[in-house]
Amino acid sequence: MPSTVQLDPARLPRHIAIIMDGNGRWAKERGKDRVYGHHEGVLSVREIVNAAAEIGIEYLSLYAFSTENWNRPKVEVAALMELLVNTIRKEAEALKKNGVRLHVIGDFDSLPAVCRKELREAMDMTAGNSRLNLILALSYSSRWEISNAAKRLAADVQAGLVALDDIDEKRFGTYLTTADFPDPELMIRTSGEYRISNFLLYQMAYAELYFTPVHWPSFRKPHLIEALLDYQQRERRFGMTSEQLRQPHPYIPS
Ligand code: FPP
Repeated sequence: MPSTVQLDPARLPRHIAIIMDGNGRWAKERGKDRVYGHHEGVLSVREIVNAAAEIGIEYLSLYAFSTENWNRPKVEVAALMELLVNTIRKEAEALKKNGVRLHVIGDFDSLPAVCRKELREAMDMTAGNSRLNLILALSYSSRWEISNAAKRLAADVQAGLVALDDIDEKRFGTYLTTADFPDPELMIRTSGEYRISNFLLYQMAYAELYFTPVHWPSFRKPHLIEALLDYQQRERRFGMTSEQLRQPHPYIPS
C-alpha cells in the first residue's frame, strides 16, 4: 500500500485539481440509486481534504457541480444541492479546526439561496486559515469562466481602466475566478474517463493529467498518494528540452 513516506516533499504539486467522477456508476454496481453514490462520495471528499492537508498540498480544487450538471434530473440536482448544504453545515467547524480555508469558484449567483448562505458562512468562518485552500467548483465551467472574464475585461477597456496594449496572459488571469490561486500542476480524474469536461481549461495548460479507473466513492488516501507518486516520476518540461530545464527559467514556478 503506498504511503506518504514514499513521497518526496520537495516535489509536491502546490495545487491539485480533481474531477470527482463515477458516483452514479459506483452506486449502480451496488444496486443502489445515484444519490447514494453522491452521499458516499462525500466521505471521499472528507478523506482527501484531510489527506491533502496532511501531505502539505496548498490548494485542492474539487469539481463538485458543473454548469452542465443543471441538466440532470430535477430530483438529482435537488439531492446534490441538499447534500452540499448539509455537508458544509456539518464540516465547517472541522475545516476551521484543521486549518482549511474554503473558496468557491463558479456562477455563485445561480446557486440556491440556502446554498449561498451556508457557503458564505463557511468561507467567512475559515477566512483566517492558510494550511490548505479548498476550492469548490460549483455551477462552474471553463467556457463560462473565460467568456465571463473576457466580458469583464472588455468592460474595463471600454471604461478606460485598462489599455488594450496592457492585455497579456497575466492580466487576463486576474479576471478568472482563480485569480488568487496558482495553476494546478496535477489534475486527477476518477472513474476511467479520459476527458477534462470544461474544468480549468486555461489554468491546466501545463498540468500533468492522471486518470484512474477507481470510482470517486472508492478513491481514498492511498489512491491520492499513488497519483502523487506517479506525478513525481514525470519530468515537467514546459515545452523545453531536458537540458534547458537545468537552467533557471521564468516559466517554471520555483
Ligand atoms: C460525478 O459522479 C459526481 C458529481 C457530479 C458530483 C460530485 C459531488 C459529490 C462528491 C458530493 C458533494 C460534494 C461536496 C464537495 C460536498 P457522476 O454522478 O457523474 O457519476 P457517473 O459518471 O457514474 O454517473
